[in-house]
Amino acid sequence: MASLTVRQLDDKLKKQLRLRAARNGRSVEDEVRTILRGAAADEDAFVPPRTEAQRGRASEADAAHILLIIGGGIAAYKSLDLIRRLRERGIAVRVVMTAAAQKFITPLSVGAITGEHPFLDLFDAHSEFDVGHIRLAREPSLIVVAPATADLMAKLAHGLADDLASAVLLATDKTILLAPAMNPNMWSNRATQRNIALLAAEHVALVGPNQGEMAESGEAGVGRMAEPLEIVAAVQARLAPDSRALAGVRMLVTSGPTHEPIDPVRYIANRSSGKQGHAIAEAAVLAGAAVTLISGPVTIPDPHGATVIKVESARDMLAAVEAALPADVAVFAAAVADWRTTTNSREKIKKSGKQAPELVLVENPDILSTVAHRKSKRPKLVIGFAAETENVVEHAKRKLARKACDWILANDVSPETGIMGGDSNTIHLVTANKVEHWPPQSKTEVASVLVSRIAAALGEQK
Ligand SMILES: Cc1cc2nc3c(=O)[nH]c(=O)nc-3n(C[C@H](O)[C@H](O)[C@H](O)COP(=O)(O)O)c2cc1C
Repeated sequence: MASLTVRQLDDKLKKQLRLRAARNGRSVEDEVRTILRGAAADEDAFVPPRTEAQRGRASEADAAHILLIIGGGIAAYKSLDLIRRLRERGIAVRVVMTAAAQKFITPLSVGAITGEHPFLDLFDAHSEFDVGHIRLAREPSLIVVAPATADLMAKLAHGLADDLASAVLLATDKTILLAPAMNPNMWSNRATQRNIALLAAEHVALVGPNQGEMAESGEAGVGRMAEPLEIVAAVQARLAPDSRALAGVRMLVTSGPTHEPIDPVRYIANRSSGKQGHAIAEAAVLAGAAVTLISGPVTIPDPHGATVIKVESARDMLAAVEAALPADVAVFAAAVADWRTTTNSREKIKKSGKQAPELVLVENPDILSTVAHRKSKRPKLVIGFAAETENVVEHAKRKLARKACDWILANDVSPETGIMGGDSNTIHLVTANKVEHWPPQSKTEVASVLVSRIAAALGEQK
């Protein structure tokens, strides 16, 4: 029997293995054994070798895998964004499209986003050689139908199975989450409402439909498909094993940069995208916390389920934070500008042609330190971030002591790390008595690890 040493693998592969192992809570050696066992089992089952794209998706699929059925409605175009949002969160997506769905969006665009051909046909000789529709029905953790047409819901309610989508829905033993989308008259029609009642009795879950304008001009009412992020939240709530870990906890999160005005059109800013803070707010909502997110100017969408307060400057942010207290936990992830200009001109500063204007800077209030030093209404857990470019851990230890906060999440934001504005992060958690080095992982994963640590710490305090 050949032996294999992890040390001999190339660095990229070792890094991928370490990440995968950390995600699954296994040692690297155990992870390798798991992969080998899986590959051997694949061989036994005579499964054809995976394509490059499928192999790339394997680690995602190990984490959580949903089947998305796209029905034939105008809202089908939103399912492309839905797939992207799910994949950003590490949720692998396999897709079935109905024949009608293919009139609205193409299998090509779906395939390009998922990295795998969508499944289209019940009588496909290629995927049905081993009764593929039953595998499609049984393998995912959850089945999502978005948009769920009146027709698909009627078929499911009455047990029809004359195409791939309806056959899979009938054959599954997994939870089905429907995101209905249709004209308000179709939605309120008694036949549709009867079908919804039948499906509810079968424990089929619904997200939406929402009230709003329809694609048809001049039409409005209930029938608009839930927004992709709402559907993502509903998916995550069903996939998360510990969705009540922060139930009853009031959590305050700051996120994004601040803008410090120079005049009505110019400002001082930084490169923060808000991705980390928003991911923390979203993870806390999913864990059942009542979350207030105070965000500087960002271009990313608001996390679903949080109360979002939008501010511009550091002073606005401090005022919003103080108004949002009391809270049980405060996470200060915003990249607050350290300085603002002494002048905030009411008029646009003009080029005089002589000398450039002098900008005099003055220090902004320190929000983390102000809240951590509070005598009253100090949250039980005050958590700050330290964005450093050198001596990351040493600076973070000093910051922890100086600011009197409980934890610091330190990260190296040197340009070569790509952390500022990027999708992944490498965190060093500094507390009063220890330093932990977390592996590089997505900002969403950092958020969910942090939320479980907060839940554990609050549990210990009780
Ligand atoms: C332009 C157009 C838009 C449509 N939009 C919807 C819709 O939003 N919701 C819906 O339930 N049906 C809609 N339909 C009707 C469905 O496409 C039709 O009922 C089809 O049979 C559904 O097939 P499926 O359930 O297999 O996807 C639309 C049809 C057309 C032509």
